[in-house]
Amino acid sequence: MSKEQARAEIEDLRRRINHHNYLYYVLDNPQITDAEYDRLIRRLIELEEKHPELIIPDSPTQRIGAAPAVEFATVEHSVPMLSLGNAFSYDELRDFDKRVRKGVRVDSLEYVCEPKYDGSAIELVYENGRLVTGSTRGDGYRGEDVTQNLKTIRTVPLRLQGEGVPARLEARGEVVLNLKDFEELNRKRLEKGEPIFANPRNAAAGSLRQLNPRITASRPLNVYIYARGHIEDHDFETHWDTMQTFRDWGLRVNLPEMRLVQGIEEAVEYCRDLEERRHSLPYEVDGAVIKVNRYEYQDALGATSKSPRWAIAFKFAAQEEETVLEEIAVNVGRTGAVTPFAILKPVRVSGVEVRRATLHNEDEIARKDIRAGDHVIVRRAGEVIPEIVKSIPEKRTGKEKIFQMPRKCPVCGSAIERTPGEVASYCTGSSCPAQQLEHIIHFASKGAMDIDGLGEMRVLQFLNEGLIQDAGDLYYLKKEQIVPLERMADKSAENLIRSIDKSRHTTLGRFLYALGIRHVGEHTAKVLAAHFGSLKNIMNASLEQIDQVREIGPVVAQSVHTFFRQPKNIELINKLLEGRIKIKREEKAEETPLQGKTFVFTGALEHFKRDEAKKLVERLGARASSSVSKQTDYVVAGAEPGSKYDTAKKLGVNIISEAEFHKMVEQYL
Ligand code: IVH
Repeated sequence: MSKEQARAEIEDLRRRINHHNYLYYVLDNPQITDAEYDRLIRRLIELEEKHPELIIPDSPTQRIGAAPAVEFATVEHSVPMLSLGNAFSYDELRDFDKRVRKGVRVDSLEYVCEPKYDGSAIELVYENGRLVTGSTRGDGYRGEDVTQNLKTIRTVPLRLQGEGVPARLEARGEVVLNLKDFEELNRKRLEKGEPIFANPRNAAAGSLRQLNPRITASRPLNVYIYARGHIEDHDFETHWDTMQTFRDWGLRVNLPEMRLVQGIEEAVEYCRDLEERRHSLPYEVDGAVIKVNRYEYQDALGATSKSPRWAIAFKFAAQEEETVLEEIAVNVGRTGAVTPFAILKPVRVSGVEVRRATLHNEDEIARKDIRAGDHVIVRRAGEVIPEIVKSIPEKRTGKEKIFQMPRKCPVCGSAIERTPGEVASYCTGSSCPAQQLEHIIHFASKGAMDIDGLGEMRVLQFLNEGLIQDAGDLYYLKKEQIVPLERMADKSAENLIRSIDKSRHTTLGRFLYALGIRHVGEHTAKVLAAHFGSLKNIMNASLEQIDQVREIGPVVAQSVHTFFRQPKNIELINKLLEGRIKIKREEKAEETPLQGKTFVFTGALEHFKRDEAKKLVERLGARASSSVSKQTDYVVAGAEPGSKYDTAKKLGVNIISEAEFHKMVEQYL
């Protein structure tokens, strides 16, 4: 291949990859598979390796290549990055509206409402469409040059696209880490004995300020653009138009969550709705931002030295509150792990009463210097178990107690030991009742054997009555044995026996997860099941064979291997199999009315991400297709649907609204 041919192919590949990045990251509407995308990237790397002289800084391959910096250079913001004034009630929002209307002398104003992301503010500078600088907010006037780190974030375009891209454009936004990714990051850090991040905001800010861009690259950060700085040769009239155009140029703007509203009451409605949905969003928001839409009015209103007069942040109920940590106790889990937790003076955090919080392990407690009796900050976010963010040492009286891991298990009295190289401590009692209880509860839980009606109360009752000693005994229970128990009617006994019977038909992934192997969560269990195909294969696999499975690290491999070599575990497995458990290989979709149907999504959905909606219908046994044909059963039309809508009309395919779709699936959410 000549150099000219290589150049042409490289340019074509870059153009295609950038286009697919835009479809995937900005429009949330990928049109090729991950494998096809990987092929394009690999081919580009191959050609660039052969022709290093053709590598340019904004090639899609250059997201992770820069060497670690010693320290960050300073970047001056051409327009200061101000902060926002706060409103803590709807009346304060109405006051804001009055002030603004008085300032510009109009009766009613158009506002743009958006989520207030709880992340780390950044500025991106594009010159002739190329990303030249990315910086943190710093003190608002001067930030740090984190260009190399920002380049590793896939939702930051290295090059803008489309018509009319200005000679110089400053875009501002927030770098965030989704809650799920935050938990996963902390889980891994805990496993490695590293300090964990207090919240996604700290994790995002910390990741952004890494001197080694490779570390930033390893964290799944996201960016949302919500404001402009200085823009050369382009006049926008409104914030709303700016955001639409920014998106067309390839910047990631969260349009589905933004609203253009008339008057403050509609803005109040937006705040109410967003606060209600706050915990179903993948990222953390601490409020909503209300902005005057017209720049003419914004300019007339101006700013104080700290914040603009044309925007305000409506703050949601705090997710962090102060309380007193009364005692540190420990809990013995199903794998024998002894986990310390805090017993708190009850406190309401974002609408829910919190009495307990996890403390992870003794190293974390020491690192955060948390003592029994301390005043502490408790944090609760979404579904996450409440956590202690920090203690407040200034409030100590001297009576606080430093935590020490008990030497003996509080339940069975066996020794508690800490495995060298691990942060967790374990109860060494092989028949510790606490472990057994937790193990059986886990065994019966939804993601495991899914035995409906067998909760903690029943398991405890069966154990106390001597009806069962381990999970295997469940499959030998007779209705007559459980009918006489307290709070057990004939009907409930029958239902429970039926649920146990139903759970006999399970999948390998569920079964492995149910066994409660240390370090094997639901996902890992599925990975192992898919790789080995049968229980026998896993049980016979050598350590090396397990270690070679993709996504399985040495610690997990060791744990799985050891598990299947312990006689008591083999005994349990045999007991289960003799109890007529049938393990099938593949997970089948749930039996639902959506079974076998084909869905096509078009337009912007309000409450689902396109990906999530697709995954959801697939989980329910339907197919999600990207094009409409006669075979399509439903076209779900969101806001501003595209050509698929017209095709569906022409073909007479059933078109439903997002609300109707929501109704169809809501019981499975
Ligand atoms: S606009 C001059 N919009 O809130 C106003 N800010 O207290 C510029 N933030 O530092 C900011 N979400 O980090 C704006 N949708 C949003 C936002 C947002 C989060 C943060 C931003 C800023 C802080 C202001």
